[in-house]
Amino acid sequence: MEKKGKKERKTPCKDTFEPLTAECKTLATIVLLLSSPEEDILAKACEAIHIFAEKGLPLLLGDENKVSLLGLGALEPLCQLITHVNKLVRRNAVMALGIMANSGDVRIALKKIDVIPSIIAKLSLEEDLVVHEFATFCLASLSLDFTWKVQIFDNKGLPPLIHLLSSPDPDIEKNSLETIFNLVQDSQSRLAVHTLGGIPPLLDLLKSEFPVIQMLALKTLQNVTIDKDSCNTFREEQGFEKLMDILSNTEFRDLHAEALEVVANCLRDSESLQLIHKGGGLKRLMEFVLTPNMPENQCSAVKCIARVAQSSENRTLLHEQNVETVLVELLSAADISVKTAACQAVSVMSLHQDSKDSFRDLGGIPAVVQLLSNESLVLREAATQALSNLTHSNQLNAFAVYEAEGHEILVQQLYGSCARTVANSAATLGNMAEQEVIRCSILSHGAIPALVEPLKSTDTQVLVNSTLCLAVLACETGARAELLSARGLHPLVNLLHTYQKEVLHNTCLAVNVCATDVPTAVEMCKFGALEILQQINQSVNRRSSFSKLAMISLLNSNVSVKYSLTGHLAATDVIGDGFYDAGKVPAAQRVLTLKELSTQPVNKKRPIIFVNTATENKKEDDKQKEEARAESPAEKPWKMMEDVSLQILVKVAKESIISLSDERERWASLARLVNEAMGGAVEMEKLHKFPWVLHLSELKFQLQSNVVPIGLINRGIYCHRAVLFKCVADCIGMSCSLVRGEYNRAWNEVLFFNGNPSRNERPSQPCRYIVDLMHQPGSLLAASTAAAVQYQTI
Ligand SMILES: *[C@@H]1O[C@H](CO)[C@@H](O)[C@H](O)[C@H]1NC(C)=O
Ligand SMILES: *[C@@H]1O[C@H](CO)[C@@H](O)[C@H](O)[C@H]1NC(C)=O
Ligand SMILES: *[C@@H]1O[C@H](CO)[C@@H](O)[C@H](O)[C@H]1NC(C)=O
Ligand SMILES: *[C@@H]1O[C@H](CO)[C@@H](O)[C@H](O)[C@H]1NC(C)=O
Ligand SMILES: *[C@@H]1O[C@H](CO)[C@@H](O)[C@H](O)[C@H]1NC(C)=O
Ligand SMILES: *[C@@H]1O[C@H](CO)[C@@H](O)[C@H](O)[C@H]1NC(C)=O
Ligand SMILES: *[C@@H]1O[C@H](CO)[C@@H](O)[C@H](O)[C@H]1NC(C)=O
Repeated sequence: MEKKGKKERKTPCKDTFEPLTAECKTLATIVLLLSSPEEDILAKACEAIHIFAEKGLPLLLGDENKVSLLGLGALEPLCQLITHVNKLVRRNAVMALGIMANSGDVRIALKKIDVIPSIIAKLSLEEDLVVHEFATFCLASLSLDFTWKVQIFDNKGLPPLIHLLSSPDPDIEKNSLETIFNLVQDSQSRLAVHTLGGIPPLLDLLKSEFPVIQMLALKTLQNVTIDKDSCNTFREEQGFEKLMDILSNTEFRDLHAEALEVVANCLRDSESLQLIHKGGGLKRLMEFVLTPNMPENQCSAVKCIARVAQSSENRTLLHEQNVETVLVELLSAADISVKTAACQAVSVMSLHQDSKDSFRDLGGIPAVVQLLSNESLVLREAATQALSNLTHSNQLNAFAVYEAEGHEILVQQLYGSCARTVANSAATLGNMAEQEVIRCSILSHGAIPALVEPLKSTDTQVLVNSTLCLAVLACETGARAELLSARGLHPLVNLLHTYQKEVLHNTCLAVNVCATDVPTAVEMCKFGALEILQQINQSVNRRSSFSKLAMISLLNSNVSVKYSLTGHLAATDVIGDGFYDAGKVPAAQRVLTLKELSTQPVNKKRPIIFVNTATENKKEDDKQKEEARAESPAEKPWKMMEDVSLQILVKVAKESIISLSDERERWASLARLVNEAMGGAVEMEKLHKFPWVLHLSELKFQLQSNVVPIGLINRGIYCHRAVLFKCVADCIGMSCSLVRGEYNRAWNEVLFFNGNPSRNERPSQPCRYIVDLMHQPGSLLAASTAAAVQYQTI
């Protein structure tokens, strides 16, 4: 063992012996003498064996001599002689056995002999120091093996071993400590060391003048203090003060890392924290962190601080001690693991609102941003986590990251391979993007293309954070266009299949925002977004206000599909060219495109009616281009048929209706116009004689198509008239709703203020009316009245 400062080899053997007499020449003879009846001879033989066995010690393969002795059968008689009545024989036998047990082969052979109880008996107070030394030396060797550990524990070896921790002889202290260290690797011994009063002597050994003993005591305490009760005792026995003495002493630098591990173990409970704080320990801990130190120690100390910061009340305590100053300083330490630990501590401290501001004021944010460029993946992960936490609901911090140009590097991190880093970067960018200036800058650095890969990730956290980030960024029109061209909408729509609630919520938010533009909405529908959302809408567990929002937004972008699925178009839903009424489509079914419907063979079902007010002339340019592109007639793109009658109707409506000053009269006129176009008034009782069914079959036959332009229909009923009414109204800038009822019924609802404005009769609320397009064309039936209900139902 080495003492601090000076070197000193302790001789294992304190008493001196006469050299072995000449008559004992060979080893075999000596072993035989172990069975001698004479005590004097026995003592000498044991001594000779001890000396011979020990000679092997300094050699690399030093077991040779012990193995020879084993081969000659020395082990069994030695094991018996350690219990001999003669004190000298006993002592010499223990010395010999102690040395021999240092050999692996000997330890294997010992397993066949029940020797542990007699070795433990040698630890008793009646035995002298030499016996204690060699018995503990023997146990230290044996306790490396699990079987022996159990035997030592079962044979009550711990109490005497703990007692010997306070032996006057440092070798005995060290051997006992080593044995105990080996034993406390298992939980039963760990708990027993505490209950048997092992903690005070362990703490006393921290003051040993032998560093090797101090180190072993620290390691043992490190294991023992895993247990909460042991921590309490540790605290009561002034454990913290003793550790602080070590931490304050630069001479003990090489013990600091181990000491800090013990501190960290014991700081888990709040009482300990209070104690160390009151004793000025917290301050000392932080000072310690900053004094030029070994990086390993700084790391452990920062980990201690991070552990303290886990509990919310005590983050306040750390904040009061200006922990942020220390951590910001460590962000620019030379060592990677110190920087990493500092980032982790910043993350935890950022859960405290005031700390977030302190880090910014102290210049911590540019310091973390700088770490994003480091080649160390672990450091980058920790740095992105810190930024994610620092910018969480703190817009000033978000701005600080922006000013340090962190967003540019964060966008690049999205291409990285480490899932945590990608998730953290996306979260940070999402936090930052809440401000328009920053959002635009993030977009200008290519955030949208960079988010496409993360959308295909299998990592939940990556998906949660990147979908949310996307939802925030996509409120910019440019971002949505970019997402379309970067082919990001397909992976986004695929995420609607997820069963992860949070991912689904965020995906729905992003879909909702992206549905604002027609091209992105159309693209999402192409990938089946509506069908998936309809399925989600069928599931009580999966649907939420988010999924409903996304579905409504998508439907709003496509009035044809909206009318098919919901049977209701609001006054704000505008029917334009390309609108078609495909009839009622069940919720779980896809609405076919007009092109698909038009290429189906002619059938007996009701026709699909469509709206097209465009003239051929207007489209001449497009047509030529299309024809130039199409090489053969078969490849000619499908085109809606022209609808001259509808064009004329819209023209007439524009000329005759817009100029009318009375609102009620405008609606009535439009109703009469639609009524005339669709075959005039039909008496309720004679409805069955009205030949609309035949007319539509003829049209289908003529056109050889199930798809019919609405202007060609001149015998139509409720459902046809209501669509035409809404269509013309939308064309001339009047707005009404369109509602589908049962059995080919459909109607329009209009809203206007009733009464005479000049007589101040105008009510505050507009009234709702159903427009009669069938029986008394132009009548406006107040909603919910008997007349209105009769119009709406059979
Ligand atoms: C005991 O502490 C040592 C460090 O001294 C550690 O390596 C070991 O894993 C710990 N054992 C247990 C069981 O915790
Ligand atoms: C943590 O901080 C709060 C508020 O300062 C205090 O009440 C509590 O006792 C502290 N706990 C510890 C362990 O110091
Ligand atoms: C990464 O950190 C290490 C350790 O502080 C430093 O030596 C190295 O220069 C850093 N690398 C970059 C690219 O900043
Ligand atoms: C902050 O970081 C910790 C990990 O250090 C994490 O568990 C926590 O969720 C983060 N909090 C926020 C608000 O991001
Ligand atoms: C983002 O991901 C991290 C894990 O890397 C997680 O701790 C954090 O809570 C997530 N942030 C948000 C805003 O969901
Ligand atoms: C969504 O589900 C609800 C409840 O089943 C239903 O009332 C509603 O019509 C559905 N919406 C669509 C657009 O399918
Ligand atoms: C509406 O959806 C149908 C069916 O998917 C599609 O054919 C049509 O192009 C869409 N229209 C618009 C304007 O998005």
